[in-house]
Amino acid sequence: MTPNTPPAVPEVIQGGMGFYISTPRLANIVSRLGGRGTVSGVALERVLALELQRGDIGGHFRRALARFPFPAIAEMVLKEFFIEEGNPLGLKPRSIPVFSIKPSPLLIALCACANFSCIWLAKEGHDEPVSVNYLEKIAMPHIYAITGAMLAGVDFITMGAGLPFQVPDVISAIIDGRTANYDVPVIGQNIHSYTMSFDPEKFFGAKLPPLKRPGFIPIVASNTLVWAIAKKIRKGMIVNGIVVEEPSAGGHNAPPRSNGAYGPDDEVDYSKIAKLLAEFNLPYWIGGSKASPEKLKWAKSVGAAGIQVGSIFALCRESGMKSSIRRELCRIGYEGKLQVRTDMRVSPTGYPFKVVIFPGSMSEESVLASRKKVCDQGVLRTLFEQLDGSIGYRCPAEPLDSYLAKGGKAEDTEDAGCMCGGLWSIAGLGDGGKPPLITMGDDVSFLPRIMKHSEDSYGAADGLRYLRGY
Ligand SMILES: Cc1cc2nc3c(=O)[nH]c(=O)nc-3n(C[C@H](O)[C@H](O)[C@H](O)COP(=O)(O)O)c2cc1C
Repeated sequence: MTPNTPPAVPEVIQGGMGFYISTPRLANIVSRLGGRGTVSGVALERVLALELQRGDIGGHFRRALARFPFPAIAEMVLKEFFIEEGNPLGLKPRSIPVFSIKPSPLLIALCACANFSCIWLAKEGHDEPVSVNYLEKIAMPHIYAITGAMLAGVDFITMGAGLPFQVPDVISAIIDGRTANYDVPVIGQNIHSYTMSFDPEKFFGAKLPPLKRPGFIPIVASNTLVWAIAKKIRKGMIVNGIVVEEPSAGGHNAPPRSNGAYGPDDEVDYSKIAKLLAEFNLPYWIGGSKASPEKLKWAKSVGAAGIQVGSIFALCRESGMKSSIRRELCRIGYEGKLQVRTDMRVSPTGYPFKVVIFPGSMSEESVLASRKKVCDQGVLRTLFEQLDGSIGYRCPAEPLDSYLAKGGKAEDTEDAGCMCGGLWSIAGLGDGGKPPLITMGDDVSFLPRIMKHSEDSYGAADGLRYLRGY
């Protein structure tokens, strides 16, 4: 691929949905059918470790790991986490290492192998392009995760929830066999970031095989950010398309631009974006409540290549969502009763997050009030400067005493649920001990147009067929 020219421009991008809602299986089928399948790259190291401990039913991860170009590294991961008979006694799962600025070799190996195997599985059996999606804010794994995904030949990297401007340099470094660097943000008086570095050749003990350059597609929410990207492109940054996501989209949203509420300032002027991007021959897609053939047509009429959709694929059979929750959401949504609110406080990333009102989930005050405060997954921990100048880690969902002792503010903890645990539960990956935290976009009006009755279900192919209008 030459810089700034995409090889294929799909009308429909299936958005990355974490944790493990956009599975390799979902991405595989969407890409096969000519959409752009995307694997959620968030916390894949935890997904792989858990699936291996459950016995890797179907042998999918072992099949992928057998193709990892550095067999000793894959072997190290299997030796540590694979349990042949699964976990029949329901023993406490083996602890999975948590990211810090100096991850252990085991965690680096796990992360690279996890990203490799998920992309390998998403690409298995067809030649269509596949994307991986990361959240910029969850920055510590990036250099290892991107390496793993590139080893599997990932075709595109999409990234939002922050300004992902470091990604093109990471890609270049990995391709050139140089050390990849990533500045992760640190909250502090004197320290504002820490540069993590990864020399893949040194770690794997051999040169990387020749790698192709994946396209890079930032996800942004405003004209201002599209302009900022254009400025970077003029200075040489390689970008292969842009997703513009409106605040009605599922998952995290961009914060409102004024007065704490979305309003006219958040509206995007697509005619300006289309004009600007035409200058670079770059496609763009529009996300957020665009899951209908009419909206797809509209997106194209304002110069977009198509749409990025999430909720319609989160609710299809191939998504990673726990089937009991998925069926209930489909039923409520079919009846037009699904309620979603934008929660400004629940996510430790500081970004607004769409929360579905659902009994027994973290949307209920009583559930939040009865929660035991604990931070046992650590995916969303933020880095801060400690008094002695070293870097510490904290999450508003951890026990109040320890959060305060780390300089955190009490008011940040009031409505903070354990987001990692909540997202883990919806993907059916949790230990059952944490209430789910369910996210969905504002608009699920596609449900009665795809489902025949409230107990019906649909596949990714039905979703795509509907979006394409046939
Ligand atoms: C369950 C769910 C999880 C999501 N997780 C992520 C994520 O991890 N990263 C991301 O960039 N976008 C995430 N999104 C946003 C989608 O990728 C997509 O852009 C968005 O859902 C489009 O809006 P729609 O839901 O109205 O179709 C998520 C959306 C949903 C519904």
